[in-house]
Amino acid sequence: MATARRPLIAGNWKMNGLSSDLGAVREIAASAETAAGQVDVALCLPATLLGQVAGAEPGLGALKLGGQDCHTATSGAHTGDTAPEMLADAGASYVIVGHSERRSDHGETDAVVKAKAEAGLRAGLTAIVCVGETMGQRQAGLATSVVLRQLHASLPETVTADTVVIAYEPVWAIGTGLTATPDDVRDMHSAIRSALSERFGAVADDLRVLYGGSVKSDNADALLAIDDVDGALVGGASLKAATFTPIVEAATRIAK
Ligand code: PGA
Repeated sequence: MATARRPLIAGNWKMNGLSSDLGAVREIAASAETAAGQVDVALCLPATLLGQVAGAEPGLGALKLGGQDCHTATSGAHTGDTAPEMLADAGASYVIVGHSERRSDHGETDAVVKAKAEAGLRAGLTAIVCVGETMGQRQAGLATSVVLRQLHASLPETVTADTVVIAYEPVWAIGTGLTATPDDVRDMHSAIRSALSERFGAVADDLRVLYGGSVKSDNADALLAIDDVDGALVGGASLKAATFTPIVEAATRIAK
């Protein structure tokens, strides 16, 4: 693994979390501090919690924060939306774009996802760009072509290791307890890396490609050990330190 590709374990709290859950963030911050220098740890929180968490005392140490979506504009008449500049102002360093729940719940196309990723970069955020096939597409033998098409059309024109992270999340593995087999994950990550190299040249060696979809303490070691898997995007298991910390620890073991 190229040294620039320090593993990233990013939690995605989705539409979960109240101010009464800030204790969990503090506990996760402690595990991020323990892993600091070996593994990057981030929590992508609901926008309502970002400012509270970023401003809380004691500070978050090595834990980075992220938003889960952003608008493409800096400000304006877009009721209910959040500009990436607002996320950055609230303390975020990352923003997830193109999560399959945004693609399916809000009809986000690859072009929209790309515009959101570019907006995130404009605001100084690192965009975590998600791609992934449905079960129907996998069963039809279309998984790789679907993912590579999404990848091609969703990424900004210019990428660097600091500005873009890719997350491969098979839609059928998200929140279901199902995970892709290690062979399938290896094949997909290798296909993604080749496509990135073809398009971006040597920069591709430094880009982190996360796996996501039912990552838990009992499968994290096996998934994170796969070549070209540079970390994980974790939903359900990121809500509590008791289930998230073991995944950070697994990444630390692999990073050694
Ligand atoms: P999950 O979610 O870990 O609950 O499957 C992953 C994600 O949606 O990012």
